[in-house]
Amino acid sequence: MCGIVGYVGKQDATPIIIDGLGRLEYRGYDSAGIAVVADGCVHLRRDVGKLANLRAKVQADPISGSIGIGHTRWATHGAPAERNAHPHISMDGEFVVVHNGIVENYLELKHDLIAEGVEFQSDTDTEVIVQLIERFACNGARGSLTEATRKAVSYLRGAHAIVVMSRAKPDELVAVRIGNAGGVALGLGDGENFIASDIPAILEHTRRMIFLESRQMATITADAIHVQTIDGQAVQEDIHNIQYDPISAAKGEFKHFMLKEIFEQARSLTDTIGGRVDFERGEVLLADLNLTGEKARALNQIVTIACGTSYYSGLVGKFFIEQMARLNVEVDYGSEYRYRDPIIDAQTAVLAITQSGETVDTLTAMEEARSKQATLWSIVNNMGSQAMRISDGFITMNAGLEICVASTKAFTTSIVDQYLLALHLGNLRGTLTSEQSRQYAFDLGRLPDLVGRALETEAKIKELAALLYHYTNFLYLGRGINYPIALEGALKLKEISYIHAEGYPAGEMKHGPIALIDDQMPVLCIALKDALYDKMISQIEQAKARGGIVIAIATEGDTFIASKADHVLYVPETPPLLSPVVAVIPLQLLAYHIAVLRGADVDQPRNLAKSVTVE
Ligand code: AGP
Repeated sequence: MCGIVGYVGKQDATPIIIDGLGRLEYRGYDSAGIAVVADGCVHLRRDVGKLANLRAKVQADPISGSIGIGHTRWATHGAPAERNAHPHISMDGEFVVVHNGIVENYLELKHDLIAEGVEFQSDTDTEVIVQLIERFACNGARGSLTEATRKAVSYLRGAHAIVVMSRAKPDELVAVRIGNAGGVALGLGDGENFIASDIPAILEHTRRMIFLESRQMATITADAIHVQTIDGQAVQEDIHNIQYDPISAAKGEFKHFMLKEIFEQARSLTDTIGGRVDFERGEVLLADLNLTGEKARALNQIVTIACGTSYYSGLVGKFFIEQMARLNVEVDYGSEYRYRDPIIDAQTAVLAITQSGETVDTLTAMEEARSKQATLWSIVNNMGSQAMRISDGFITMNAGLEICVASTKAFTTSIVDQYLLALHLGNLRGTLTSEQSRQYAFDLGRLPDLVGRALETEAKIKELAALLYHYTNFLYLGRGINYPIALEGALKLKEISYIHAEGYPAGEMKHGPIALIDDQMPVLCIALKDALYDKMISQIEQAKARGGIVIAIATEGDTFIASKADHVLYVPETPPLLSPVVAVIPLQLLAYHIAVLRGADVDQPRNLAKSVTVE
């Protein structure tokens, strides 16, 4: 989850690096630092807390130079403290390192280095990297920062993203990527080059980027970038032109990125659907999936792997694919899947859903699937991300940059991507009549408008939040395709307001959890006018009978439910398969407004990060 920014070129590195780190704030951190080389010296500034603290320190005691590296840290080894903040400097002061990942064997390496007389300044695992580089530079690799770095990283176990700088070579940086500890993007400028762990940090300077793959390293100067494997094999650089609009990454008139991104969903869904559906014929075009009819017909199962909100999206997509394509779908957590020795083969498609494309639990599960010859697909938002690059085919969410740690528009667009996939598979496998295909496509075409109408209820939701924000326990209940929405609604509340909330299949309440319900327990019931409506009305009555405070998510025009629930949030009538996309909107807004009333740090909740690149 750490953020890395590097620069070498003709400008002052300091503002470029600090502003770049500011664009990575959403990744979560507890300390930050910057180092530049000037006049043969390394100049270092570090501080704990928000980036504003580092910015103030640099303003009070300025540093500048034409080469530098910076870092925002999310502590794994070593408490959040200035001495543990990156960059870390080698004992003789020549080498400087920033790092994302975990050196799994750092204790044995540290022990050996101490035995050689190295004096450590921090409690971090990262410091062993810079001390190793110094050891190899002294043992003949001096003069080549790349060679000293190559030798040092060969001793590391774990996943890493590393950037190295040297006082003796103030014109070059070395970057390394091993495993899935977050990306390394190399930005190509004119007489200057950039390094970042994520695109937003350097997008204002360049749209031309190279993404390091695992076990690759690069030597970066102001005029050139040379990529090779860590074994020394030259690599042909693959330059991507990034289309993101950096302006869209600004909050605009919204108080938080989360509210902005909630309200962007009608547009982002339009972008997700746009250009992919022939509404006349009910056909879908997913060019990047690389799926033939023969391959589609040969499949015997799909396994969806994801984490957090993306996992809940997969639970919704299961309904689409099983209904339209008549294919069995298993959905599993990335962090669990890798330990299951799954029964999959070449007739299995493993679908990874990941907004960041860098979630290590999901990436590791993908590698497990690859080892068993499964076809790898991914649904991703982050262009050029690792998940996208290792897949046989992918479907982009087209949600635009999602900055808030709490995922909203990526969730709804990933659900729609699975709807598109299901319709495509159904057409290729012949499990849909042309009439059915046209109807599914028609229903999808209405969705952005239905979401836009659901967003119009914000004022009522804000009023309701004022009645609920002081409660400390919530239950979210749903059935069928909206059970995953109960899970997602609970997660949104948990992760941004720090209130305990539990999503539950409504039918399970009578098997125990109903004992929890009393007059201190708000119970959110997703009770849309669908085949399960009567069951949900019964559920509402059971909760009311125990004094629960019931908030119903209901279909516009349903006046009966108002006689049953304490509060009703209405959404427009929606085709049942697509109702989860609309039902989640009030739950997103309710979580947001409760969090704001509780004074929570909505866009950067405590302990969380946007991209979880550690296990
Ligand atoms: C969702 O609000 C959370 N930020 C978290 O659960 C997230 O969905 C999860 O970490 C997966 O992230 P990914 O989609 O980038 O893989």
